Amino acid sequence: MKVKINNREYEFDKEMSILDAVKSAHIKIPTLCYSEKLEPFGSCRLCSVEVKGERTLKPACVTKITDGMEIFTHSEKVRKTRKTIMELIVASHGITCNLNCLTCSKSNSCEIKEIAGEIGITEIRVPPISNGLAEDKSSYSIVREPQKCIVCNRCVRKCAEVQSVNILTIANRGPNTYVTTFMDKGMGNVDCTNCGQCILECPTGALHEVYHTEQVWNVLSDKDKFVIVQTAPAVRVAIAEEFGAEPGRITTKQMVAGLRLLGFDKVFDTNFSADLTIMEEANEFIERFKDGGKLPLFTSCSPGWIKFIEHNYPEFIDNLSTCKSPQQMFGAIAKTYYANKIGVPREKMVVVSIMPCTAKKFERVRPEMKGDVDYVLTTRELAKMFKLAGIDLLNLPAEDYDIPLGISSGAAAIFGATGGVMEAALRTAYEAITGKELEKLDFESVRGIKGIKEATIAIDGIKVNVAVVNGLGNARKVLEMIKNGEKEYHFVEFMACPGGCIGGGGQPIPTNNEILLKRMEAIYEVDKSLPIRKSHENPAVKALYEEFLGEPLSEKSHELLHTTYVARS
Ligand code: SF4
Ligand code: SF4
Ligand code: SF4
Ligand code: FES
Repeated sequence: MKVKINNREYEFDKEMSILDAVKSAHIKIPTLCYSEKLEPFGSCRLCSVEVKGERTLKPACVTKITDGMEIFTHSEKVRKTRKTIMELIVASHGITCNLNCLTCSKSNSCEIKEIAGEIGITEIRVPPISNGLAEDKSSYSIVREPQKCIVCNRCVRKCAEVQSVNILTIANRGPNTYVTTFMDKGMGNVDCTNCGQCILECPTGALHEVYHTEQVWNVLSDKDKFVIVQTAPAVRVAIAEEFGAEPGRITTKQMVAGLRLLGFDKVFDTNFSADLTIMEEANEFIERFKDGGKLPLFTSCSPGWIKFIEHNYPEFIDNLSTCKSPQQMFGAIAKTYYANKIGVPREKMVVVSIMPCTAKKFERVRPEMKGDVDYVLTTRELAKMFKLAGIDLLNLPAEDYDIPLGISSGAAAIFGATGGVMEAALRTAYEAITGKELEKLDFESVRGIKGIKEATIAIDGIKVNVAVVNGLGNARKVLEMIKNGEKEYHFVEFMACPGGCIGGGGQPIPTNNEILLKRMEAIYEVDKSLPIRKSHENPAVKALYEEFLGEPLSEKSHELLHTTYVARS
């Protein structure tokens, strides 16, 4: 197919959109409602181009190239139209003279701001248009600010196409169109999983996490409180992006130093409790496998996934591991074992989590979790606190976590990527079942960014069928296949977010496949760099069992480290 782009001839051997054809010619067309991973929608018209012989401009994202087509991407007509469209979008976005950009969650990553600069907007001739809609603060995890919404529909499509949750929708028509939830009930009153994938997709500040930064500043300055912090595995390979570093830069030790500068009394690691999770979960699997318990066993570390199954597949609740997530195991151990050890009363101790996750903000308030975690900051929120305190993260000297709850293994480090929980569990289960040392620790078959991975692992002559699933749309597919008897597994890892927690809803924006792969590489680098790479060899976890818990799945373990679920359908 021969196509002319700006008077130059190009040849394409397959059908594609004008946008893709132009991209391959290294020309950028501005887009807003388009997103690489989603079905094109064609609503904003910002990508309009001139096509010879056509009376009107054509949206490049939804128009296919044809043989002999002549496209003009930056003609005068195109430039003028784009400016007018952009002015209308900005006006509908409610930008007023009260400088709301300064207070916006996306002030550093706003696509509108970036595009307005690129297409040379110097004045807004259209007065701001208010849609009169109020903020939606009904959720424990996510806030919607409809005043900043440009109705690009990307969140609606992400929630439906990638996550298969379908809780966002478009209401009304024409200029009265707006994005909402079923019957305008609010995000906290519908089947939202709190995964935050819609936040990553939103080009404006219309969606963001519920902030806990103010509360954390307050407890940090309260002399009566003993404030400890835990950091999730996926944060250390991503937070540097907020400071302009290349994705995949590992800043674990600088982050520890930064948290001490913020004033935390102790800086601990969720990786410690990820090792603890493996001790409990691997043993739960072995017990179910040997005693004919409910299989397949489903992992339970991802609160977005838990809420999804509670709403959509309550018939599978008994398949879920009863293990709390590492975040909650940490809280439970910190406020009992550790608090007793150092003589701090439970009511004085404040546990703050740094998570790549927005769903963990909801998990924290589940009644089953008994208030063990007080506040949850996303990776983005922690970066904001560092910036506010003038902390130059990338250049801080390296510091180590405090002990004992800061000691962890490489198996815990890989929890941050899809496949990591399964691999960590297999490292421990293999040695527990066979009594032999596992020679090759890397289970390559469960690694990588693919949405659904399957493997059969031989343990002492027994074949164990496992699957690893990331993204809720993929979770739905796998659950349907299990339901129909098409698939028979023994153990399945599910993560709500594409790529696992490295792609969590609280991670730096942008988060795309290229960035996910770099964060993932860094996660495996952390694993390789550690002297201990199996959870059951973590000396602090061993001491915890000896001094306090007894053994995995003991009565005490059940009381503190295990939970129950709720059928929400
Ligand atoms: S948080 Fe997840 S489930 Fe909820 S609206 Fe956003 S994408 Fe959908
Ligand atoms: S909330 Fe964000 S992603 Fe959703 S339609 Fe509005 S601007 Fe687009
Ligand atoms: S995959 Fe990770 S970031 Fe996403 S909801 Fe689950 S725990 Fe949170
Ligand atoms: S990006 Fe093509 S119409 Fe919006």
